[in-house]
Formats: sequence, structure tokens, C-alpha cells
Amino acid sequence: MIVIKKAGPENIYSIQSLAEVTWPIAYGSILPQQQLRYMLDLFYSKAALEEQMLQKGHQFIIAFDNDEPAGFAAYSPKSIADNNTWRLHKLYIDPNQQGKGVGKILLDHILSAIKPQGATALELNVNRHNKALGFYQKTGFVITGEEDIDIGNGYFMNDYVMEKSLSPA
Ligand SMILES: CC(C)(COP(=O)(O)OP(=O)(O)OC[C@H]1O[C@@H](n2cnc3c(N)ncnc32)[C@H](O)[C@@H]1OP(=O)(O)O)[C@@H](O)C(=O)NCCC(=O)NCCS
Repeated sequence: MIVIKKAGPENIYSIQSLAEVTWPIAYGSILPQQQLRYMLDLFYSKAALEEQMLQKGHQFIIAFDNDEPAGFAAYSPKSIADNNTWRLHKLYIDPNQQGKGVGKILLDHILSAIKPQGATALELNVNRHNKALGFYQKTGFVITGEEDIDIGNGYFMNDYVMEKSLSPA
């Protein structure tokens, strides 16, 4: 049975472990090996995750399958000034658990949490070659733009911006 729990700094090791097994499979054929390592270090170091959780206010949640971490997500309002649009920052499911509904459960959990807080839209960035694009289209997101984001060291994230409109809670 899948149980969703809020996550904090005490869960950083679990989040890092899930990212380490998920990223090479999700991005191995899209990004050069060096860029993949660079991005994991940039976004998933202990300091980076603590900053996202404690300074930037990203809410992390973990899906547990019989007490084993099966996937995680992170979300927050897009900005302090805008409580209508929210951002889905991360959604990663252990490759052994993909295709069993865990991603949908995490997404539904987020929608249930943000709608009562006034959310009217959930926005995200996804690599333009990521198969997850199909999952997002299936779950009601539409492409609203493209961005090439300079992340330093000569690397770029070549993303689609996607958005799902939300009906009031
Ligand atoms: C993309 C991801 C989050 C989806 O989670 P998941 O648990 O595998 O997906 P689910 O089993 O909940 O699927 C829900 C529905 O979406 C469909 N779906 C899942 N992945 C899909 C894909 N790549 N393309 C099209 N449809 C997809 C499923 O068939 C299912 O449809 P149904 O409701 O008709 O049965 C997960 O596969 C993942 O972590 N992928 C690698 C990491 C990644 O790229 N994350 C996104 C970063 S932006």
C-alpha cells in the first residue's frame, strides 16, 4: 500500500538515493554523463536540498510502499506574491515502481493540498526529450512555452513549460 508523507531535512538521504537511481534512467539518453552528474550535485546536494526545503519553502513529499521510499515530489507557490499559480519542482518515481500509479498518487496528493490554498494552476518544467512529457499530457498538463535555462558550466536545461488548470476545490 502506498502512503504519502511530508518530508524534511531528515529525509534528505532517501531523496538523494531515489534521485541517484531515477536520474540515470530518465536522463541517461538525453543528457551527457557529465551534465547529469553536474545537475544531481547542483540540485540534490545536502546543502541544495536544505535550501529548497528551509529557505525556498518547497514542500517535499515521499511515497512509501510498505515503508520503502518509492518516489518523491516537491512543490510550492510560484512566488510569495502569487498564491494562485503553483510550481511542481520535482516528481521522480523509483524505476522499479514506475507504471504502477505512484506518480499519479503523488500528483493527486499535491492537487488536493494546493486547491484549498487557492491554487488555480500548477506549472512545471520538463526536458523537451523526457518521456515524462507523455505522463504530464495524460494528467491534463498542456505545453505553454519553451525555455533554455543556463545552469552554469556551459550546460543548459532545454525545457518545455507546462501548465494544468485547476478547478476550485
Ligand atoms: C513520469 C513519472 C513521474 C510517472 O509516474 P508513474 O508512477 O510511472 O506513472 P503512473 O503509473 O502514475 O501513470 C499514470 C498514468 O499516466 C500514464 N503514463 C505514465 N507514464 C507515461 C508516459 N511516459 N507517457 C504516457 N503516459 C504515461 C500511465 O499509463 C497511467 O495512465 P492510466 O491512468 O490510464 O493508467 C515516472 O515514470 C518517473 O519518475 N519517470 C522518470 C523521472 C522523470 O522523468 N520525472 C519527471 C521529471 S520532470
